[in-house]
Amino acid sequence: MAINRSRLDRFISEKCNINRKNVRSLLAQKRVSVDGIIASDIAQPINKFSVISLDNQIIQQHKPLYIMLHKPVGVVCATKDEKHKTVIDLLNGLLTPSEQASLHIVGRLDLNTSGLVLLTNDSRWSEHLTSPQSKVAKHYLVTLQHPLHQEYIPAFAKGMYFAYEDITTKPVTLNILSQHQAEVILTEGRYHQIKRMFGRFNNPVIALHRTSIGSYRLAKDLKAGESKIIVMEEGMLDRS
Ligand code: URA
Repeated sequence: MAINRSRLDRFISEKCNINRKNVRSLLAQKRVSVDGIIASDIAQPINKFSVISLDNQIIQQHKPLYIMLHKPVGVVCATKDEKHKTVIDLLNGLLTPSEQASLHIVGRLDLNTSGLVLLTNDSRWSEHLTSPQSKVAKHYLVTLQHPLHQEYIPAFAKGMYFAYEDITTKPVTLNILSQHQAEVILTEGRYHQIKRMFGRFNNPVIALHRTSIGSYRLAKDLKAGESKIIVMEEGMLDRS
């Protein structure tokens, strides 16, 4: 996902159809402000959430949006689908149509997986949460058809080779909770990863539910199909 960063002079020139020399003169006349502060540097870096004004008229103001959704089984993690309801269809008036259209999904779940889905228009945040380099932990609750065995634990921790992608999975933590239930902690998200890992033991996953992504936990009061806006307090935004 592209990070929407630009220079102030380029942005004003394109947005207001003014050549760069004239943009320089607007700045010299103190007619431009960024996030409420008079701008003086034509090369000032800006991003899509910078509030930019010219002559006290706002010419860019995008609100960063962070949404938590409880995905039910049978709903697809896509913005459009011919056959199934999508996570976007579940937002039901939470946002304006243009806010809704700006969203993307932070780490998809399979059609038959339930649980936490995050949506945003802030690609820096979603890149941080999904990039394997950030090693952000995703917690899942898994129900298996057959009893679990202790021998699964080192096999998950060691990583498994997936020939189709020619990769070995990063270490995965497996906590056995009961005969048929386990918690799985991933730091990456390979295609059908959890089902394929248990598949190595011929033990089909019969239910899969994501409970958290990094420090974002599925809110207990959010029923399947419900969503809410995450209000980011100072220092809460995890995207370094
Ligand atoms: N692993 C899977 O197999 N499916 C998911 O939806 C998520 C992780």
